Amino acid sequence: MTPPSISPPAITETAITGPAIAALACEGLSKRYGELVAVEDVGFAIAPGQAYGLLGPNGAGKTTTISMLVGLLRPDAGTVTVGGVDLAEDPMRAKAGIGYVPQEIALYPELTGRENLRFFGRLFGLPRREVAGRIEEVLDLVGLTGRADSRLSTYSGGMRRRINIGAALLHRPQVLILDEPTVGVDPQSRKAILDGVERLVEEGMALLYTSHYMEEVERVCDRVAIIDHGRIIADGTRQELISLVGSADKVELSLDGDVDTALAKLRVVEGVIEAARTGATSIRLITEGGRYLLPSLITAVDGCATVTATQVVEPDLEATFLHLTGSTLRD
Ligand SMILES: Nc1ncnc2c1ncn2[C@@H]1O[C@H](COP(=O)(O)OP(=O)(O)O)[C@@H](O)[C@H]1O
Ligand SMILES: [Mg+2]
Repeated sequence: MTPPSISPPAITETAITGPAIAALACEGLSKRYGELVAVEDVGFAIAPGQAYGLLGPNGAGKTTTISMLVGLLRPDAGTVTVGGVDLAEDPMRAKAGIGYVPQEIALYPELTGRENLRFFGRLFGLPRREVAGRIEEVLDLVGLTGRADSRLSTYSGGMRRRINIGAALLHRPQVLILDEPTVGVDPQSRKAILDGVERLVEEGMALLYTSHYMEEVERVCDRVAIIDHGRIIADGTRQELISLVGSADKVELSLDGDVDTALAKLRVVEGVIEAARTGATSIRLITEGGRYLLPSLITAVDGCATVTATQVVEPDLEATFLHLTGSTLRD
């Protein structure tokens, strides 16, 4: 069997022949444990080359959702497709398209990094002649080429997690699923993980990234679903989610020239809600649309002052979560 290609030509082809088939899609996923609703009516679709984030606090239902997506847990309701293949109808083919990195690490401490990867390569049934080359590729991707011949028992937790990610990539999956990959990981490994993941997405891999760290999801993901008590309560691009807060951006301007006249002119620019002088050469504005408004602000003061510095302070996903749930992501 030829492993599914993640190269750009495959994507171009689907773009010409019709709408791209989602690398991973689910609909109506639900799971109860007795009285507890762990996951309720979760659905989304991830295209090739798209990074989708599930952002939610501990206990929100992220791992339960993933367990159903990868076929480890049978949903009470709902469907999962991988590259258009229904997981319930053809689990073998559907699972071949998934690279899954669980929260728990399962590796052999007495084997080296490279030996662990070789073990997983055989386990996945990769052709022997292909395994060696793939191992070098994934070692490079997770930044462990230099440590590949040391035993796992000498690795940091973060380095082990990186080998786990490498193992999930050996069979060239269409979609990579990472369950809180940076929890308990040292800063160097965290950076290697995020860099590697961004590279994969650029190359056309679909990504499902779960975390309760807002900064990571904001950095890595094109679209984000906010999950709380088992339900997706909002989903969209970062900008769309943040606009739900409805709160305005704060803009700080430093100016050279007639600051009072500039202030009067700025007050009447469309999108400016408030403007106040905060120092001899500085003005603070409350606006709708923040950085998109900067060109009009600069034009408005033309003739009486020049803008020497700007700073836009935007609300973030944490603010959105707070707005929607009334609580914070981290307890
Ligand atoms: N096997 C199980 N039995 C009973 N309750 C469970 C089980 N697995 C998870 N839960 C509960 O389901 C909810 C969602 O858990 P989980 O999916 O692990 O959340 P997250 O990964 O977002 O932290 C939690 O309330 C958790 O306690
Ligand atoms: Mg979890």
